[in-house]
Amino acid sequence: MSRVAIVTGGTRGIGAAISLALKNSGYKVAANYAGNDEKAKAFHDATDIPVFKWDVSDYAACGEGIAKVEGELGPIEVLVNNAGITRDAMFHKMTPQQWHEVVNTNLTGLFNMTHQVWAGMRDRGFGRVVNISSINGQKGQMGQANYSAAKAGDLGFTKALAQEGAAKNITVNAICPGYIGTEMVLAVPEKVLNERIIPQIPVGRLGEPEEIARCVVFLASDDAGFITGSTLTANGGQFFV
Ligand code: CAA
Repeated sequence: MSRVAIVTGGTRGIGAAISLALKNSGYKVAANYAGNDEKAKAFHDATDIPVFKWDVSDYAACGEGIAKVEGELGPIEVLVNNAGITRDAMFHKMTPQQWHEVVNTNLTGLFNMTHQVWAGMRDRGFGRVVNISSINGQKGQMGQANYSAAKAGDLGFTKALAQEGAAKNITVNAICPGYIGTEMVLAVPEKVLNERIIPQIPVGRLGEPEEIARCVVFLASDDAGFITGSTLTANGGQFFV
């Protein structure tokens, strides 16, 4: 029987590549998205992966969405917490709204989703949770006090939950992508990207979404059963922990 996987923010960018890679590895995949109906429909039309709309920063909406996915596909065995946003600004210009939007999605979103699949994973004695953090949660990034704080929080969440899940055969791991060629990164001012960021990447290029997706497929697999609480960095050599 195919396992059921859900990918938040799973219709665009890194998330779309993860959804597709899991499907191609035999999972029944649900791709969640928050807002862009047009992109979600195009993704569904191209891949035949069912898409489900809700905002991961809303606890009640996550509960309703998860119930719908489980009703259609079956109990969720693999959760990929990928949904993330940026609201970059130098700290002296950052508004409380920019802070809260990023923390609510990129950190509280992990609580909202994981909390509502956790009991089922414990009862069934199997689960895989993969959290997509970021290089900028490891090293900090100017212009991203909100994002760096939330992504660093994701790593603490991963390590704490890994200890709780271990006895129930639930692994919880994080991946820290570096700069990947998605809309999020390409939204960075071109001059900053070309003159400040790419020169800091020893392999000399942005990463590809599929390079992160392959890491997720591995961490979700039975082969990775002894790996939990870990942080897998995939950043082209830009930063070593
Ligand atoms: N690395 C190095 N230097 C950076 C930088 C970065 N990532 N971002 C900004 N700077 C530098 C600029 O080059 C500039 O330096 P100079 O004055 O010497 O030219 C200085 O910081 C101020 O930048 P701006 O003139 O652009 O100032 P601003 O107030 O107009 O904008 C900003 C500030 C919104 C932070 C804008 O610079 C920006 O968007 N920077 C990119 C921040 C970033 O790296 N975001 C990552 C997004 S991708 C992502 O988050 C995915 C992931 O997980 C990796």
